[in-house]
Amino acid sequence: MCGVIGYTGNMEAAPILLEGLKKLEYRGYDSAGIAVLDKNVISISKVSGRIAHLCEKTDDGKLLHGCIGIGHTRWATHGAPTDTNAHPHMSNDGRFAVVHNGIIENYLMLRDELKAKGYHFESQTDTEVIVHLIDMYDTGDFRKAVMKAASRLQGSYALGVICADDPDKLIAVREYSPLLIGVGIGENYFASDVTAIVPYTRNVIYLDDGQLAEITKENIVVYDCTGKKVPKEINHISWDVQDAEKGGYAHFMLKEIMEQPGAVKAAMTPRMKDGEICWEESGLDSFDVHSVSRIVITACGSAYYAGSAGRYVFEQLCRIPVQVELASELRYSNPIIDGQTLLIVLSQSGETADTIAAMRECMKRGAKSLAIVNVVGSTIAKIADHTVYTWAGPEIAVATTKGYTTQLTVLYLLALWMGRKLGTLDEESYHMLYESIRALPKVIQDALDMNPMIKKLAGKYHDAKALFFIGRNTDYATALEGALKMKEISYLHSEAYAAGELKHGTIALIDDHQPVIALCCNSLLQEKTISNIVEVKARGAEVLAVTCKGNQNILSVADDVLYIPKVEPIFSTVAEIIPLQLLAYYVAEENGCDIDKPKNLAKSVTVE
Ligand code: F6R
Repeated sequence: MCGVIGYTGNMEAAPILLEGLKKLEYRGYDSAGIAVLDKNVISISKVSGRIAHLCEKTDDGKLLHGCIGIGHTRWATHGAPTDTNAHPHMSNDGRFAVVHNGIIENYLMLRDELKAKGYHFESQTDTEVIVHLIDMYDTGDFRKAVMKAASRLQGSYALGVICADDPDKLIAVREYSPLLIGVGIGENYFASDVTAIVPYTRNVIYLDDGQLAEITKENIVVYDCTGKKVPKEINHISWDVQDAEKGGYAHFMLKEIMEQPGAVKAAMTPRMKDGEICWEESGLDSFDVHSVSRIVITACGSAYYAGSAGRYVFEQLCRIPVQVELASELRYSNPIIDGQTLLIVLSQSGETADTIAAMRECMKRGAKSLAIVNVVGSTIAKIADHTVYTWAGPEIAVATTKGYTTQLTVLYLLALWMGRKLGTLDEESYHMLYESIRALPKVIQDALDMNPMIKKLAGKYHDAKALFFIGRNTDYATALEGALKMKEISYLHSEAYAAGELKHGTIALIDDHQPVIALCCNSLLQEKTISNIVEVKARGAEVLAVTCKGNQNILSVADDVLYIPKVEPIFSTVAEIIPLQLLAYYVAEENGCDIDKPKNLAKSVTVE
């Protein structure tokens, strides 16, 4: 929910920290700050508001001098987004400064203890206890003081610490919050995510929970929580700096929408070879699908909606019962799970706190876990029995687009692979469906080509009081995701309903000119949905239908029609979401919203 960064080297740290924070801003953007260390003195600058404000205040970093420093961009949890609550936080004597992503659950107890010892608190944050604890445990060994302080913390944290008395060293600690080390030449970094450091190095070390890194410009040493040195592997990041830039688009969201044909292709290519589906990199090839009697899919937000669409595909192709559960509900539901349950976990970031907790709970009860994740080296990827990466590349816009469609792609491939292994699919159907999946990047591209038409339609709908999204089966799953996209970036009240359910109450809300977006791509249920369109039309609704080419019947009932190419009904979600992503984008643009950073949200939800 927050972003942290640290630098040590021969250059001025402040401009590097600010550039890195701009890349991390999607993780939280209500306040920001940096601390730079020079000649045994720590200087701090922090502000409420965006990184741009911090850049102004520091003259793009030129006002703070020193070649070592830490930075933070915040999504407030404890205490309002004020200058004082912004990180870094300093010890009372100014010798230590700390940045923190995560939540310290026992901070109230620690606060009382520290206050009783005479520590003075400036902020309302949970983080401030950390810096005072470090000060309390300091006996002249910086690393040991941080380690001792960390051992007192309950909750989640990615910490970055500097010490005025030890001016060549950064300390970074990880517990349930993402943190990696960037390995440079004569300079080193830490950051919440690789986008912040990829302009400088593509060599990274992923810290594990409970590990602490002591970082100087020439050296990196990683310790476990007992203080024992641990060898770490250096990983090479393959994507380019441009992947994390806007590349001429007005917003990351639009860029990421447009990248979807390539992203979906990247998700499928390594798995589709000569008519076969293979999972070499995740070790799934040897997985015994016959041991599975039930599938539980868990995730949050859009990833949950991808799972909702996936349920139809698994049930159809594998004839296995599938339950889709919100991770925040599953974790506290005393779930019925056994060794024959396959748990599929979906997460773009791989760091969503509720998803991690639900996963741990189910794994504890014996489930085999299969994670579908975008961010390499993330927590979910690490703890799963099997991990399949979506290879969507960095997703910066807060609202997910290519993260979602690549999750769907992987789910389609898994269901097809499993159905064939289980014998619930004959060879002919398998090959027909295999080819349908292979065609999806082209189908998505054709859907994207409706861009100008959708932009025009946004002008018609942008000032609606509310929007209703309706559909059946896979179309209903798309309706849920379409409504979420609309509400989160345009703030327009949007609701999704199973089309057949409207008449059980919600239809009372339909009156003259109420816009209804009708999803009608699943050809098996088109006629049924058309009946529901007729029902809302009869109450005065204005209907925008999304359907597949060839559906002429819709023309006589809908006011506007967007045609996507013909696609296999169970795989239609991945294509029909495209016009809805674009519609949400252009409605938000019409309404002057901050599209890449919608209010109250953050990209990676690492708190419960
Ligand atoms: C919506 C959105 C969120 C995420 C959800 C889960 O556009 O992005 O609803 O889908 O927070 O995030 P991940 O997939 O990172 O676990």
